[in-house]
Amino acid sequence: MQEKEHKGEKPVVKREMSRRQFLSYTLGGAGAFMAAGMTVPMIRFAVDPIIRPKSGSDYVKVIEESKVTTTPTEVKFKKHQVDGWYESDPEFAAWIAKDDSGKIYALSPICKHLGCTVAWNTDSRFPNEFFCPCHEAHYDKDGKQKAVASAPLDEYEVKLEGGWVYLGPVIPNSRVK
Ligand code: FES
Repeated sequence: MQEKEHKGEKPVVKREMSRRQFLSYTLGGAGAFMAAGMTVPMIRFAVDPIIRPKSGSDYVKVIEESKVTTTPTEVKFKKHQVDGWYESDPEFAAWIAKDDSGKIYALSPICKHLGCTVAWNTDSRFPNEFFCPCHEAHYDKDGKQKAVASAPLDEYEVKLEGGWVYLGPVIPNSRVK
């Protein structure tokens, strides 16, 4: 370190870097650069499912509008699902019908008692009703529970487009008051 004094000026302080400091800065910088090079791809991999844009639609085309009648009809369909890094195409079912005003709706077949599967008009004791064979819950055409279960059957969101019925997410039953 050298100090020079000039008249009327502040002393100039000259700092020099020691060899030890130079080496520690250089090696530290190179180390940080290499660590970042390894860490950034790892972070990118970890958060990839979160930041990846969603592809596809929540709605699935299931049946032609003209084929839906006032009698509930069962439709089966596959839905592409992404859960983190796991992708699958599980099968779902729905009971689709028209109500008295001509509105198309779709009910989930999952019994609200303990989750067995209901079907339309399968037990002669409960004609024109959804029946669950597990513990004999039954529901009317709108999905309203009549025995055993404590809630109505859920519905699917329905979209009509180009003469086709599309089903979306499952929602609580909106038909039963
Ligand atoms: S699961 Fe349907 S009646 Fe029990």
